[in-house]
Amino acid sequence: MTDPRELAARQPANFVLGAATAALQIEGGADLRGRCGWDEFAEQPGRIIDGSTPALTCDHFHRSEEDLELMSGAGLDGYRFSISWPRVQPEGSGRVSSEGLDFYDRLVDRLIERGIRPMATLYHWDTPIPLEQQGGWKVRSTAERFGEYAAIVGERLGDRVADWVSINEAATVVLNGYGLGVHSPGEEQLFRAGAVARNMVLGHGYAVQALRSVPVAGRIGVTNTHTPVSPATDSKKDKAMAGLLDFVHNRLFADPVLLGRSPEVPRGLPLPMRLMLKSVSRMSRKDLELVSQPLDFYGLNYYFPSLVAAGADPTGMSPDGESEAAKDLPFRLLDWPDLPQTDFGWPIAPDGLRQISQQMAERYGTRLPPVVITEGGASFNDAPSPDGSVNDDDRVAYLAAHIGVAADLANGAIPGFELEGYYVWTLLDNWEWAAGFSQRFGLVHVDFDTLERTPKSSYHWIGDVQRARRGKTEV
Ligand code: FCB
Repeated sequence: MTDPRELAARQPANFVLGAATAALQIEGGADLRGRCGWDEFAEQPGRIIDGSTPALTCDHFHRSEEDLELMSGAGLDGYRFSISWPRVQPEGSGRVSSEGLDFYDRLVDRLIERGIRPMATLYHWDTPIPLEQQGGWKVRSTAERFGEYAAIVGERLGDRVADWVSINEAATVVLNGYGLGVHSPGEEQLFRAGAVARNMVLGHGYAVQALRSVPVAGRIGVTNTHTPVSPATDSKKDKAMAGLLDFVHNRLFADPVLLGRSPEVPRGLPLPMRLMLKSVSRMSRKDLELVSQPLDFYGLNYYFPSLVAAGADPTGMSPDGESEAAKDLPFRLLDWPDLPQTDFGWPIAPDGLRQISQQMAERYGTRLPPVVITEGGASFNDAPSPDGSVNDDDRVAYLAAHIGVAADLANGAIPGFELEGYYVWTLLDNWEWAAGFSQRFGLVHVDFDTLERTPKSSYHWIGDVQRARRGKTEV
């Protein structure tokens, strides 16, 4: 199952096996950029589990050469990174920091020199503070500013970036940031937060328009997180609540972007809730045209399937932390009785990737462009053994199973669903948002006191898979 040669044999030749990161989680270099919402959020007591901040993290900003060397060592085909909006535009509008852009310019050049395909995400959650103060994603003007920023980055890097991702996981920002308050900006508006989704979808539309008009040479897409949702029982209530999570997670963003229409509100929900969901998801014809411009690929992040029961969790637990607001949700997520879990408590279900791909193929048909798994991975907090090695066999098993499913999909397992590659989350142990440094997802262990990088067994295993694919020497 975890034999690198076996997995290598299953992957089509043009399959892209890469790793993904996000600026705020690894860069550090906070004194050389503007501040973002997460800087302030992290400074509020009790927001981040270990009280840490994103000021230094892995200091990738100063250690990118070493990190590039690590990417080459694992033989990665592609690297997905994000561009820090406040590093490029410290105020979120107007003035551009050319030093900020220089950093990404060099990074892209170095990737290309090494034969690694650069995929750049324009927004991975770091909203510049001045925009946050003006309402963040609650106001349409943030979407317009995002379009301007996309044009600036596109002008500078557009001749070399292979793949562009406009926005990463709008669903998570809406649910965790504006709905439950466990992420920045820490608002607890529950379903009213749905209006934020509309502005994020618009931001995507403005960014695509800007990149197309530069025009950039690379391909343009968006990344969302998707989860196959099942009701805990056949009861009407559980089914209605599963429909509600499916709506918020899987349709609120994807339907306008891929189908050019607002998603249909699921049946079986109480009337006031239906009306509220209708009002937060409705968009004008003109806006729908803006957000549904054709894409070259669709980025799918897959971590786990969701099991939903009606009624709130009295402890207010969500997969990303405890939230007072979660106690007012009309549903809760249950543990899957038969599935093992990662150290984050997330269920491990490679088949969920097949299920969600099947659902997307059925829902979107020919409107679905080729898909890239832009993130997938697991938190296991293995520490270095006395001999210095880090043995993360659980991660190897996780990746082997998930990349195996991805390989089958890339070989056409689901008609109409074209899969191009899989980006492992993530290259380095990093600052995992509200979980601070307490959850390690990396192929490479980072000691957060010394910043020393130690490749784990999973890193060596990915390298073996890649060497086997290239038909090189023994593995
Ligand atoms: C995703 C995020 C990414 C990381 C992983 C574990 O939702 O896009 O930044 O936190 O989860």
